[in-house]
Amino acid sequence: MTIARPGLFITLEGGEGAGKSTAARGLASLFQAEGAEVILTREPGGTPGAEAIRALLLGDVPLDALAQTMLHFAARADHAQTVLRPALARGAVIICDRYYDSTMAYQAYGQGVPIEAVAALIRLVDLHPDITFLLDLPAATAEARLTSRASGSDRYEAMGRDFMARVAAGFQSIAAAAPGRFAVIDAAQSPEAVVFSMRAAIRARAGR
Ligand code: TMP
Repeated sequence: MTIARPGLFITLEGGEGAGKSTAARGLASLFQAEGAEVILTREPGGTPGAEAIRALLLGDVPLDALAQTMLHFAARADHAQTVLRPALARGAVIICDRYYDSTMAYQAYGQGVPIEAVAALIRLVDLHPDITFLLDLPAATAEARLTSRASGSDRYEAMGRDFMARVAAGFQSIAAAAPGRFAVIDAAQSPEAVVFSMRAAIRARAGR
């Protein structure tokens, strides 16, 4: 059963270097300027507990892929219960940098965890975005952006080109299977054009 909620839950997805964080900040500024309460958050993370789990997930302690999957969902359950659901009930606009589609793309398509296992965890958390943007970037452009970044690589960035190609193909399949929820955005555009495209898609689909 779908429960009516006054808020708006927007998620941003894509591979590394697609500009999700910049786009999320730009979109948040637009909604704030319009007077909305905006929750700008990220996964894994968004609560003290989930941020602690993030440190474990992005660190280099060896972890089985199914264990990683369950940790992503442990962080997500805390985030959903303590931040996302209450914010949606208040009528806030949530802009979340990555959500459960990342687990499907990275852990199922990328690492080979069964799709049904991730789907079962998605059903368990049972909190679904109203609109999901897939920031789409050719692999070569993403790689060039990443090598120009100063920061070191985390567990997933270190998994290499073939892994990233599986993740990118996974995102395309996930988006194609849910066209009502997904909007694919050309991330090679300027940051301003990316934010403008997202704002227009939200107006067209969610009417606000
Ligand atoms: P980011 O904050 O730079 O996007 O880093 C998060 C990393 O974690 C990124 O490499 C994608 C990965 N990730 C997963 O593998 N599964 C997930 O469910 C999420 C949310 C992120």
